[in-house]
Amino acid sequence: MAIISDDNDNTEIKETRNKDISSEETSYDMSFEYSIRPKFFDDYVGQSALKSTLKISIEAAKKSEMPLDHILFYGPAGLGKTSLASVIANEMNTDIKITSAPSLERPRDIIGILMSIKAGDVLFIDEIHRLNKISEEILYPAMEDFYIDMTTGKAQTLKSIRIPVPKFTLIGATTKAGSLSGPLRDRFGIIHRLEFYTVEELSQVIIRTASILGIDIDTKGAEAIAKRSRGTPRIANRLVKRVRDYAIVKSDGAINADIANEAMDILQIDKYGLDNTDRTLLKIIAEKYNGGPVGIDTLATILGEDSKTVEDVYEPYLVQKGFIQRTTRGRKLTPFAYQCFKLNNNNDFQQSLF
Ligand SMILES: Nc1ncnc2c1ncn2[C@@H]1O[C@H](COP(=O)(O)OP(=O)(O)O)[C@@H](O)[C@H]1O
Ligand SMILES: [Mg+2]
Repeated sequence: MAIISDDNDNTEIKETRNKDISSEETSYDMSFEYSIRPKFFDDYVGQSALKSTLKISIEAAKKSEMPLDHILFYGPAGLGKTSLASVIANEMNTDIKITSAPSLERPRDIIGILMSIKAGDVLFIDEIHRLNKISEEILYPAMEDFYIDMTTGKAQTLKSIRIPVPKFTLIGATTKAGSLSGPLRDRFGIIHRLEFYTVEELSQVIIRTASILGIDIDTKGAEAIAKRSRGTPRIANRLVKRVRDYAIVKSDGAINADIANEAMDILQIDKYGLDNTDRTLLKIIAEKYNGGPVGIDTLATILGEDSKTVEDVYEPYLVQKGFIQRTTRGRKLTPFAYQCFKLNNNNDFQQSLF
């Protein structure tokens, strides 16, 4: 597979305050992720409704010898958007070029990519909601009618030329479908949201990863890790490695439920899958803002994270679990959050969290 530009996972590696389990990845994590990334639908666990739809579209495209429709995947980080794009390319038996919107700053970046693709190739653009207006406008006719308009020369000699682009499939991924411009969204034939995974599905991901890495794990051990993985395969995979390290130190390296639970207690990942940063976030809202509402930027500043990480990595799961609520005036703790941590008031809340 030809990869001309770097994957989202390689761009913008931020220094985070402390390396909690849901924080951004290191370069070591990136090569690890690559090695365990599913290659075909059979390795890609869960998302069954989405997989069925895609299989039909792929079959139809192959039979009619037409490129697959442009596809947009959205949903929280770590749910398998990038993986699914490469599964699709493998299933179509085509090459994939992987890039992300922040690395397509200048018009010539996107033009260069469009000029280099071959008929049938998949072009994957991660964080597509961050594409700038100029690049977007270059992309429109390329997506719709497979050409790009370029201007050459200077002032009076300015000339517009139209260049054909081979028929390709654009796969866009975003954590924020709402930030995508209407005209861009309308050019995708297939738009799909990726869902959080069930404990059973995450157990399967864990068992698969363990077998690739040669880790000995039983089903109860996998399930114990799955329960604290926030519905997210990327987190499940990282936890497997951390638990394996603990198992090596404490016993013979094999993972069962007891070892997994002990390890995760030491990592301070609670039964909801929340880590220290999550708990600090809840604590800030409770303690400093009396339960909220509080703006995302303020929260991020106090946490020492950037707003994007808080919004894309921490918040979706806390919202999904019903611990915090998004309102127009900011983020609020829900009564459910107080109840889960057995709280009556803000001071109690603070104490039960730490
Ligand atoms: N459905 C799945 N089945 C198996 N592993 C998965 C699945 N989805 C994600 N993963 C694993 O989780 C990691 C993160 O997935 P990725 O595709 O990078 O997520 P996203 O692009 O949505 O942030 C991958 O390296 C892959 O190993
Ligand atoms: Mg990705």
